Amino acid sequence: MADLRTKLGPLTLKNPFIVGGGPPAGTVEHIKKCVDSGLGAIVTKTASTVWYLQRYPRPLYKLIDYKKDPKHPFDTPKDYFWMHREHNSCYEPIPFAEIIRQSSGYCKEHDCKLIGSFSCKTMEEWKNIAQLYVDAGVDALELNFCCPFPPTGLSKSEEDNHVGIYYTMHPEAAYEVLSELKKIIRVPMFVKMNPDGANFVTVAKNLEKAGAAGVTMFANNKTMRVDIKTGKPYIYGPGPGTGTGMKPISMRWVCEVADACDFAVMAGRGAVTWDDAVEFIMSGADAVQYCSPIMIRGLPYVKEMIRDLNNFMDEMGYESIEAIKDMARKQCYSNQQLVDLVKPLYAEVDPEKCIGCRRCERSCWYDAISFNDRKALIIKNHCAGCSLCSQLCPQDAITMHERKSDKEHFQAMASAHPDLAPKGFFD
Ligand SMILES: Cc1cc2nc3c(=O)[nH]c(=O)nc-3n(C[C@H](O)[C@H](O)[C@H](O)COP(=O)(O)O)c2cc1C
Ligand code: SF4
Ligand code: SF4
Repeated sequence: MADLRTKLGPLTLKNPFIVGGGPPAGTVEHIKKCVDSGLGAIVTKTASTVWYLQRYPRPLYKLIDYKKDPKHPFDTPKDYFWMHREHNSCYEPIPFAEIIRQSSGYCKEHDCKLIGSFSCKTMEEWKNIAQLYVDAGVDALELNFCCPFPPTGLSKSEEDNHVGIYYTMHPEAAYEVLSELKKIIRVPMFVKMNPDGANFVTVAKNLEKAGAAGVTMFANNKTMRVDIKTGKPYIYGPGPGTGTGMKPISMRWVCEVADACDFAVMAGRGAVTWDDAVEFIMSGADAVQYCSPIMIRGLPYVKEMIRDLNNFMDEMGYESIEAIKDMARKQCYSNQQLVDLVKPLYAEVDPEKCIGCRRCERSCWYDAISFNDRKALIIKNHCAGCSLCSQLCPQDAITMHERKSDKEHFQAMASAHPDLAPKGFFD
């Protein structure tokens, strides 16, 4: 079996699966159940000193695009979009510290790292609550720089200033909180960023400079969906949302921040299955948070993910998380680099496999497909090598091949579309 341990800044986690801040770790009982599930770490429900983040409307959650298969109604589909209106714990940080105190011993006994999440409004509060949580036994802190969501024309609240997202959007304020805490706090501090509207590489660099042990990317986005039968927005209008479709955006930032900073990256928002963790780790993450997927599937799901990750690692011959870390990040290239690195392609049809369905023809935007004897035929000189047809062909009859050179490609394109070729290009 592979070694699933992973380094998260100065911490070592027994595996890369973390439950993200939310209801699964909001009480002593729940934290202990999270520990029993086998998670590498737990982020507690955020406790905040902001009163209006402790209350929320009902119903709280809405699953959209969650399509149950009528033939297998007990199966959980992978795809969904989740909206909610839950903010922070209904407990203030002081009573929440008691929850931490009562569960931290259990976490230590079972080698599950406990990360305390909190959010404050003033520097004095940040310092006091951080110290309170450390004294209660957390292994690390996660500063919630994400709740609530950005004030918009729909928000009349002046109180949104200096709460949560304010710090993601105001690097100097974030820097100040971190560097002040750094003077007194001895456990690693991670910062959870809000994904709405900032250059996260800049924010992360700033946090690194201020002494953060790493960042968590991300909380929910502010999103909106509409029930077209009633014309009403789901869950009362713009609000927190996450789901399968968010993964590529999270992953892009994970990759870029891991590239720019030399500290830990906890990925999340859009990771649903075990293989999402592999993708995130290959993109540069050290560990991966799951919140809504665990809420939907329940805690037994964690053991399944650990089993499936282990099986994958064994099948692929990877001995440790270290072996897959950054694998994809190191193979990312800019457009300029690609000009020299990658040869152009053209498509070819295997007439034995082609059934003449014309699926490929409909999606070739370079007019490169003709038909002969009801079989598709690629006009090599027109083919731009985009590869769409080969991915769409129901018979897998189309394969892509390298052209000899860039020049061959441009010559082919120029002879196919002479009006588009730059004047004198091949003279
Ligand atoms: C119901 C609910 C409550 C949440 N509460 C918190 C919270 O208290 N603190 C926090 O940092 N994030 C909170 N989150 C955000 C999650 O930790 C996570 O960042 C987000 O849902 C994206 O990850 P996911 O796609 O795995 O759900 C909450 C999410 C949900 C769905
Ligand atoms: S999509 Fe495939 S099977 Fe259909 S015509 Fe094109 S090459 Fe032939
Ligand atoms: S690779 Fe692109 S351009 Fe070439 S034939 Fe297929 S769809 Fe057309």
